[in-house]
Amino acid sequence: MDLLARAKQLEAEGRSIIHLEVGEPDFATAQPIVDAGIQALRQLKTHYTAATGLPELRQAIADHYQRKFALAIDPRRVVVTPGASGALQLALSVLTDPGESILLSDPGYPCNRNIAKILGLCSVDVPVSVDTQYQLNAGHIHKYWLANTRAAMVASPSNPTGTLIERNAMRELLAAVSKANGHLIVDEIYQGLVYDVEEYTALSLSEEVFVVNSFSKYFGMTGWRLGWMVVPERFVDAVDRVAQNIFLAASTLSQYAALAAFEPDAEAILQRRVEMFKQRRDYLLSVLPEMGFKISLQPQGAFYIYADCSDITQDSFAWTRQLLEKEGVAVTPGIDFGGHQAATHVRFAYTRSLDELKRAMCRIARFIQDKQ
Ligand SMILES: Cc1ncc(COP(=O)(O)O)c(C=O)c1O
Repeated sequence: MDLLARAKQLEAEGRSIIHLEVGEPDFATAQPIVDAGIQALRQLKTHYTAATGLPELRQAIADHYQRKFALAIDPRRVVVTPGASGALQLALSVLTDPGESILLSDPGYPCNRNIAKILGLCSVDVPVSVDTQYQLNAGHIHKYWLANTRAAMVASPSNPTGTLIERNAMRELLAAVSKANGHLIVDEIYQGLVYDVEEYTALSLSEEVFVVNSFSKYFGMTGWRLGWMVVPERFVDAVDRVAQNIFLAASTLSQYAALAAFEPDAEAILQRRVEMFKQRRDYLLSVLPEMGFKISLQPQGAFYIYADCSDITQDSFAWTRQLLEKEGVAVTPGIDFGGHQAATHVRFAYTRSLDELKRAMCRIARFIQDKQ
Protein backbone atom coordinates (compact mmCIF):
# COMPACT_ATOMS: atom_id res chain seq x y z
CA MET A 1 0.00 0.00 0.00
CA ASP A 2 2.91 2.36 0.75
CA LEU A 3 4.34 1.47 -2.62
CA LEU A 4 1.02 2.15 -4.35
CA ALA A 5 0.77 5.51 -2.57
CA ARG A 6 4.29 6.41 -3.65
CA ALA A 7 3.55 5.29 -7.23
CA LYS A 8 0.47 7.52 -7.28
CA GLN A 9 2.47 10.43 -5.86
CA LEU A 10 5.13 10.06 -8.55
CA GLU A 11 2.41 9.87 -11.18
CA ALA A 12 0.85 13.08 -9.85
CA GLU A 13 4.28 14.70 -10.26
CA GLY A 14 4.16 13.78 -13.94
CA ARG A 15 6.29 10.62 -13.96
CA SER A 16 5.30 7.71 -16.19
CA ILE A 17 4.52 4.79 -13.89
CA ILE A 18 3.72 1.24 -15.00
CA HIS A 19 1.55 -0.50 -12.46
CA LEU A 20 2.33 -4.19 -12.07
CA GLU A 21 1.47 -4.11 -8.38
CA VAL A 22 -2.32 -3.94 -8.49
CA GLY A 23 -4.49 -7.04 -8.36
CA GLU A 24 -7.17 -5.51 -10.52
CA PRO A 25 -7.80 -6.18 -14.20
CA ASP A 26 -7.20 -3.18 -16.47
CA PHE A 27 -10.39 -3.90 -18.43
CA ALA A 28 -13.47 -1.88 -17.56
CA THR A 29 -16.63 -3.80 -16.67
CA ALA A 30 -18.09 -5.41 -19.81
CA GLN A 31 -20.73 -3.20 -21.47
CA PRO A 32 -23.70 -5.61 -21.13
CA ILE A 33 -23.13 -5.65 -17.35
CA VAL A 34 -22.84 -1.85 -17.22
CA ASP A 35 -26.04 -1.53 -19.28
CA ALA A 36 -27.88 -3.82 -16.86
CA GLY A 37 -26.68 -1.64 -13.97
CA ILE A 38 -27.89 1.54 -15.71
CA GLN A 39 -31.24 -0.06 -16.45
CA ALA A 40 -31.64 -1.13 -12.81
CA LEU A 41 -30.93 2.41 -11.68
CA ARG A 42 -33.44 3.83 -14.19
CA GLN A 43 -35.99 1.38 -12.85
CA LEU A 44 -35.22 2.73 -9.38
CA LYS A 45 -34.00 -0.55 -7.94
CA THR A 46 -32.67 1.35 -4.99
CA HIS A 47 -33.94 -0.57 -1.97
CA TYR A 48 -32.29 -3.22 0.19
CA THR A 49 -32.45 -6.81 -0.95
CA ALA A 50 -32.65 -9.77 1.44
CA ALA A 51 -29.42 -10.20 3.43
CA THR A 52 -28.56 -13.34 1.47
CA GLY A 53 -29.13 -11.57 -1.84
CA LEU A 54 -31.64 -11.27 -4.69
CA PRO A 55 -33.31 -14.63 -5.21
CA GLU A 56 -32.80 -14.28 -9.01
CA LEU A 57 -29.07 -13.77 -8.54
CA ARG A 58 -28.73 -16.70 -6.11
CA GLN A 59 -30.51 -18.82 -8.71
CA ALA A 60 -28.28 -17.46 -11.51
CA ILE A 61 -25.17 -18.36 -9.49
CA ALA A 62 -26.52 -21.87 -8.85
CA ASP A 63 -27.26 -22.19 -12.59
CA HIS A 64 -23.69 -21.08 -13.32
CA TYR A 65 -22.36 -24.08 -11.34
CA GLN A 66 -24.74 -26.33 -13.26
CA ARG A 67 -23.57 -25.00 -16.64
CA LYS A 68 -19.86 -24.82 -15.84
CA PHE A 69 -19.37 -27.90 -13.68
CA ALA A 70 -22.60 -29.92 -14.17
CA LEU A 71 -23.12 -29.46 -10.46
CA ALA A 72 -26.53 -29.01 -8.83
CA ILE A 73 -26.31 -26.45 -6.02
CA ASP A 74 -29.39 -25.52 -4.02
CA PRO A 75 -29.68 -21.70 -4.44
CA ARG A 76 -30.56 -21.55 -0.73
CA ARG A 77 -26.89 -22.37 -0.07
CA VAL A 78 -25.72 -19.37 -2.12
CA VAL A 79 -25.22 -16.14 -0.16
CA VAL A 80 -24.48 -12.90 -2.04
CA THR A 81 -21.91 -10.70 -0.29
CA PRO A 82 -20.08 -7.37 -0.66
CA GLY A 83 -17.13 -8.86 -2.57
CA ALA A 84 -15.18 -11.96 -1.62
CA SER A 85 -13.98 -9.72 1.22
CA GLY A 86 -17.49 -9.74 2.71
CA ALA A 87 -17.71 -13.50 2.26
CA LEU A 88 -14.38 -14.14 3.99
CA GLN A 89 -15.44 -12.01 6.97
CA LEU A 90 -18.78 -13.75 7.09
CA ALA A 91 -17.27 -17.23 6.97
CA LEU A 92 -14.80 -16.52 9.74
CA SER A 93 -17.44 -14.76 11.86
CA VAL A 94 -19.76 -17.76 11.65
CA LEU A 95 -17.14 -20.45 12.15
CA THR A 96 -14.93 -19.05 14.89
CA ASP A 97 -14.91 -17.38 18.28
CA PRO A 98 -12.27 -14.94 19.56
CA GLY A 99 -9.21 -16.71 20.90
CA GLU A 100 -9.45 -19.57 18.41
CA SER A 101 -7.03 -20.08 15.55
CA ILE A 102 -7.05 -20.62 11.80
CA LEU A 103 -4.42 -21.97 9.41
CA LEU A 104 -3.24 -19.83 6.48
CA SER A 105 -0.51 -20.27 3.91
CA ASP A 106 2.56 -18.05 3.91
CA PRO A 107 2.79 -16.56 1.28
CA GLY A 108 -0.93 -15.91 1.04
CA TYR A 109 -3.60 -13.25 0.62
CA PRO A 110 -2.68 -10.69 3.28
CA CYS A 111 -6.18 -9.51 4.24
CA ASN A 112 -7.09 -12.93 5.68
CA ARG A 113 -4.45 -12.49 8.35
CA ASN A 114 -5.81 -9.06 9.16
CA ILE A 115 -9.47 -10.11 9.17
CA ALA A 116 -8.49 -12.87 11.61
CA LYS A 117 -6.79 -10.31 13.82
CA ILE A 118 -9.83 -8.01 13.78
CA LEU A 119 -12.02 -10.95 14.84
CA GLY A 120 -9.66 -11.71 17.74
CA LEU A 121 -8.37 -14.89 16.11
CA CYS A 122 -4.86 -16.17 16.03
CA SER A 123 -3.62 -17.01 12.54
CA VAL A 124 -1.06 -19.75 12.15
CA ASP A 125 1.05 -18.93 9.11
CA VAL A 126 2.15 -22.17 7.49
CA PRO A 127 5.27 -21.71 5.32
CA VAL A 128 4.63 -23.15 1.86
CA SER A 129 6.93 -23.46 -1.12
CA VAL A 130 7.26 -24.97 -4.57
CA ASP A 131 7.10 -28.57 -3.30
CA THR A 132 3.40 -28.17 -2.40
CA GLN A 133 2.56 -25.74 -5.23
CA TYR A 134 2.74 -22.97 -2.59
CA GLN A 135 -0.46 -24.39 -1.13
CA LEU A 136 -1.55 -25.96 2.15
CA ASN A 137 -1.91 -29.73 1.95
CA ALA A 138 -3.11 -32.55 4.21
CA GLY A 139 0.37 -32.91 5.73
CA HIS A 140 0.27 -29.30 6.90
CA ILE A 141 -3.10 -29.89 8.55
CA HIS A 142 -1.66 -32.81 10.54
CA LYS A 143 1.42 -30.83 11.49
CA TYR A 144 0.03 -27.40 12.33
CA TRP A 145 -3.53 -28.02 13.58
CA LEU A 146 -3.86 -26.98 17.24
CA ALA A 147 -6.48 -27.85 19.84
CA ASN A 148 -8.10 -24.43 19.29
CA THR A 149 -7.89 -24.44 15.47
CA ARG A 150 -11.30 -24.17 13.79
CA ALA A 151 -10.60 -23.65 10.12
CA ALA A 152 -8.04 -23.57 7.34
CA MET A 153 -8.21 -21.11 4.45
CA VAL A 154 -6.84 -21.69 0.96
CA ALA A 155 -7.17 -19.91 -2.37
CA SER A 156 -7.05 -21.80 -5.65
CA PRO A 157 -5.76 -20.24 -7.85
CA SER A 158 -3.75 -18.42 -5.23
CA ASN A 159 -2.74 -14.84 -4.72
CA PRO A 160 0.27 -14.19 -4.94
CA THR A 161 1.48 -17.38 -6.66
CA GLY A 162 -1.21 -18.14 -9.27
CA THR A 163 -0.94 -21.83 -8.39
CA LEU A 164 -3.82 -24.28 -8.05
CA ILE A 165 -4.62 -27.09 -5.65
CA GLU A 166 -5.00 -30.25 -7.72
CA ARG A 167 -8.23 -32.17 -7.32
CA ASN A 168 -6.67 -35.05 -5.39
CA ALA A 169 -4.73 -32.77 -3.10
CA MET A 170 -7.98 -30.87 -2.42
CA ARG A 171 -9.73 -34.16 -1.61
CA GLU A 172 -6.99 -35.04 0.88
CA LEU A 173 -7.08 -31.54 2.36
CA LEU A 174 -10.86 -31.77 2.86
CA ALA A 175 -10.50 -35.18 4.49
CA ALA A 176 -7.72 -33.99 6.83
CA VAL A 177 -9.69 -30.91 7.91
CA SER A 178 -12.83 -32.94 8.43
CA LYS A 179 -10.89 -35.48 10.52
CA ALA A 180 -9.68 -32.59 12.69
CA ASN A 181 -13.37 -31.57 13.12
CA GLY A 182 -12.65 -28.26 11.42
CA HIS A 183 -13.81 -26.37 8.35
CA LEU A 184 -12.14 -25.64 5.06
CA ILE A 185 -12.72 -22.26 3.41
CA VAL A 186 -11.75 -22.35 -0.26
CA ASP A 187 -11.41 -18.99 -1.98
CA GLU A 188 -12.17 -19.51 -5.68
CA ILE A 189 -12.10 -15.79 -6.52
CA TYR A 190 -9.82 -16.40 -9.53
CA GLN A 191 -12.06 -19.09 -10.97
CA GLY A 192 -12.39 -18.64 -14.71
CA LEU A 193 -8.88 -17.18 -14.93
CA VAL A 194 -7.21 -20.54 -15.38
CA TYR A 195 -4.90 -21.44 -18.26
CA ASP A 196 -3.97 -24.81 -19.78
CA VAL A 197 -5.71 -26.94 -17.15
CA GLU A 198 -9.25 -28.12 -16.57
CA GLU A 199 -11.06 -26.32 -13.78
CA TYR A 200 -13.06 -27.86 -10.97
CA THR A 201 -14.73 -26.44 -7.90
CA ALA A 202 -14.19 -27.70 -4.35
CA LEU A 203 -18.01 -27.82 -4.18
CA SER A 204 -17.90 -30.90 -6.38
CA LEU A 205 -15.85 -32.71 -3.71
CA SER A 206 -17.75 -31.89 -0.53
CA GLU A 207 -21.02 -30.46 0.74
CA GLU A 208 -19.26 -29.32 3.92
CA VAL A 209 -16.81 -26.92 2.31
CA PHE A 210 -17.26 -23.12 2.39
CA VAL A 211 -16.55 -21.77 -1.09
CA VAL A 212 -15.95 -18.06 -1.62
CA ASN A 213 -16.17 -16.38 -5.01
CA SER A 214 -16.54 -12.90 -6.45
CA PHE A 215 -17.60 -10.78 -9.40
CA SER A 216 -14.33 -8.82 -9.05
CA LYS A 217 -11.77 -10.72 -11.07
CA TYR A 218 -13.05 -12.94 -13.92
CA PHE A 219 -16.23 -10.86 -14.19
CA GLY A 220 -14.23 -7.59 -14.04
CA MET A 221 -16.49 -5.85 -11.50
CA THR A 222 -14.04 -4.84 -8.76
CA GLY A 223 -15.67 -1.50 -8.01
CA TRP A 224 -19.19 -2.93 -7.83
CA ARG A 225 -18.24 -4.75 -4.61
CA LEU A 226 -20.04 -8.01 -5.15
CA GLY A 227 -19.19 -11.60 -4.36
CA TRP A 228 -20.79 -14.76 -3.08
CA MET A 229 -20.28 -17.76 -0.88
CA VAL A 230 -21.73 -21.26 -1.04
CA VAL A 231 -22.16 -22.68 2.45
CA PRO A 232 -23.18 -26.06 3.85
CA GLU A 233 -26.95 -26.36 4.25
CA ARG A 234 -26.82 -26.40 8.05
CA PHE A 235 -25.02 -23.02 8.14
CA VAL A 236 -27.46 -21.10 5.93
CA ASP A 237 -29.48 -19.61 8.79
CA ALA A 238 -26.45 -18.61 10.85
CA VAL A 239 -24.84 -16.97 7.82
CA ASP A 240 -28.10 -15.12 7.07
CA ARG A 241 -28.26 -13.77 10.64
CA VAL A 242 -24.64 -12.63 10.69
CA ALA A 243 -25.00 -11.03 7.22
CA GLN A 244 -28.07 -9.11 8.44
CA ASN A 245 -25.93 -7.67 11.20
CA ILE A 246 -22.63 -6.93 9.56
CA PHE A 247 -23.71 -5.54 6.18
CA LEU A 248 -27.53 -5.88 5.86
CA ALA A 249 -27.18 -6.77 2.17
CA ALA A 250 -24.86 -6.39 -0.80
CA SER A 251 -25.44 -3.47 -3.19
CA THR A 252 -28.80 -3.83 -4.94
CA LEU A 253 -27.67 -2.10 -8.11
CA SER A 254 -24.63 -4.35 -8.40
CA GLN A 255 -26.75 -7.44 -7.93
CA TYR A 256 -29.01 -6.48 -10.84
CA ALA A 257 -25.97 -5.69 -12.98
CA ALA A 258 -24.41 -9.05 -12.09
CA LEU A 259 -27.43 -10.89 -13.48
CA ALA A 260 -26.17 -9.87 -16.92
CA ALA A 261 -22.69 -11.27 -16.21
CA PHE A 262 -23.91 -14.81 -16.86
CA GLU A 263 -25.53 -13.97 -20.21
CA PRO A 264 -23.84 -15.11 -23.45
CA ASP A 265 -22.86 -11.62 -24.71
CA ALA A 266 -21.00 -10.78 -21.49
CA GLU A 267 -19.54 -14.28 -21.35
CA ALA A 268 -18.07 -13.88 -24.86
CA ILE A 269 -16.30 -10.64 -23.82
CA LEU A 270 -14.99 -12.20 -20.61
CA GLN A 271 -13.66 -15.27 -22.40
CA ARG A 272 -11.70 -13.10 -24.86
CA ARG A 273 -10.09 -11.42 -21.86
CA VAL A 274 -8.97 -14.80 -20.47
CA GLU A 275 -7.12 -15.36 -23.74
CA MET A 276 -5.40 -11.98 -23.34
CA PHE A 277 -4.35 -12.75 -19.76
CA LYS A 278 -2.85 -16.02 -20.95
CA GLN A 279 -0.82 -14.20 -23.64
CA ARG A 280 0.44 -11.75 -21.03
CA ARG A 281 1.39 -14.56 -18.67
CA ASP A 282 3.21 -16.44 -21.43
CA TYR A 283 5.09 -13.30 -22.41
CA LEU A 284 6.28 -12.64 -18.83
CA LEU A 285 7.18 -16.30 -18.35
CA SER A 286 9.39 -16.07 -21.42
CA VAL A 287 11.25 -12.86 -20.48
CA LEU A 288 11.55 -12.87 -16.68
CA PRO A 289 13.98 -15.83 -16.53
CA GLU A 290 16.23 -14.09 -19.08
CA MET A 291 16.58 -11.23 -16.59
CA GLY A 292 17.54 -13.54 -13.73
CA PHE A 293 14.17 -14.22 -12.07
CA LYS A 294 13.59 -17.86 -11.18
CA ILE A 295 10.10 -19.25 -11.68
CA SER A 296 10.24 -22.90 -10.72
CA LEU A 297 6.51 -23.42 -10.96
CA GLN A 298 4.45 -22.24 -13.90
CA PRO A 299 1.44 -20.35 -12.50
CA GLN A 300 -1.76 -21.73 -14.01
CA GLY A 301 -4.26 -19.18 -12.85
CA ALA A 302 -5.12 -15.68 -11.59
CA PHE A 303 -2.97 -12.89 -13.06
CA TYR A 304 0.15 -13.14 -10.94
CA ILE A 305 3.68 -14.43 -11.25
CA TYR A 306 5.53 -14.93 -8.00
CA ALA A 307 9.19 -14.84 -8.93
CA ASP A 308 12.31 -15.73 -6.97
CA CYS A 309 14.66 -12.74 -7.27
CA SER A 310 17.48 -14.12 -5.09
CA ASP A 311 20.00 -13.93 -7.96
CA ILE A 312 19.19 -10.23 -8.32
CA THR A 313 18.67 -9.06 -4.74
CA GLN A 314 18.42 -10.39 -1.21
CA ASP A 315 16.13 -7.51 -0.23
CA SER A 316 13.07 -7.43 -2.45
CA PHE A 317 11.48 -4.66 -0.37
CA ALA A 318 14.32 -2.19 -0.97
CA TRP A 319 14.68 -3.40 -4.57
CA THR A 320 11.03 -2.71 -5.46
CA ARG A 321 11.28 0.75 -3.92
CA GLN A 322 14.42 1.57 -5.93
CA LEU A 323 12.85 0.18 -9.09
CA LEU A 324 9.85 2.45 -8.60
CA GLU A 325 11.97 5.53 -7.92
CA LYS A 326 14.43 4.96 -10.75
CA GLU A 327 12.40 3.37 -13.52
CA GLY A 328 8.80 4.03 -12.55
CA VAL A 329 7.74 0.38 -12.46
CA ALA A 330 5.69 -0.77 -9.47
CA VAL A 331 5.84 -4.45 -8.44
CA THR A 332 4.94 -5.95 -5.08
CA PRO A 333 7.62 -7.23 -2.68
CA GLY A 334 7.15 -10.65 -1.05
CA ILE A 335 6.73 -9.10 2.40
CA ASP A 336 3.16 -8.14 1.48
CA PHE A 337 2.17 -11.81 1.49
CA GLY A 338 3.91 -13.06 4.64
CA GLY A 339 7.38 -13.62 6.00
CA HIS A 340 8.46 -16.91 4.43
CA GLN A 341 11.23 -16.28 1.84
CA ALA A 342 9.65 -12.84 1.43
CA ALA A 343 12.93 -10.96 0.93
CA THR A 344 13.78 -13.04 -2.13
CA HIS A 345 10.42 -12.88 -3.93
CA VAL A 346 8.39 -10.32 -5.85
CA ARG A 347 4.93 -10.51 -7.40
CA PHE A 348 4.22 -9.32 -10.92
CA ALA A 349 0.54 -8.68 -11.68
CA TYR A 350 -0.11 -8.91 -15.42
CA THR A 351 -3.06 -6.58 -15.21
CA ARG A 352 -1.70 -4.26 -17.88
CA SER A 353 -1.64 -4.51 -21.68
CA LEU A 354 1.03 -6.48 -23.51
CA ASP A 355 2.55 -3.22 -24.78
CA GLU A 356 2.81 -1.85 -21.26
CA LEU A 357 4.29 -5.12 -20.02
CA LYS A 358 6.92 -4.93 -22.74
CA ARG A 359 7.83 -1.38 -21.76
CA ALA A 360 8.00 -2.43 -18.10
CA MET A 361 10.33 -5.32 -18.91
CA CYS A 362 12.70 -3.01 -20.83
CA ARG A 363 12.85 -0.70 -17.83
CA ILE A 364 13.45 -3.58 -15.39
CA ALA A 365 16.19 -5.03 -17.61
CA ARG A 366 17.89 -1.61 -17.68
CA PHE A 367 17.56 -1.26 -13.90
CA ILE A 368 19.17 -4.66 -13.30
CA GLN A 369 21.92 -3.89 -15.82
CA ASP A 370 22.70 -0.50 -14.24
CA LYS A 371 22.99 -2.05 -10.78
CA GLN A 372 25.58 -4.59 -11.89
C1 LIG B 1 -7.36 -14.26 -2.88
C2 LIG B 1 -8.27 -13.08 -2.77
N1 LIG B 1 -9.40 -13.18 -2.05
C3 LIG B 1 -10.24 -12.13 -1.91
C4 LIG B 1 -9.97 -10.91 -2.50
C5 LIG B 1 -10.96 -9.78 -2.29
O1 LIG B 1 -11.67 -9.52 -3.47
P1 LIG B 1 -13.06 -8.77 -3.57
O2 LIG B 1 -13.49 -8.35 -2.21
O3 LIG B 1 -12.85 -7.63 -4.51
O4 LIG B 1 -14.03 -9.76 -4.16
C6 LIG B 1 -8.81 -10.76 -3.27
C7 LIG B 1 -8.49 -9.46 -3.90
O5 LIG B 1 -7.44 -9.24 -4.48
C8 LIG B 1 -7.94 -11.87 -3.41
O6 LIG B 1 -6.80 -11.80 -4.12
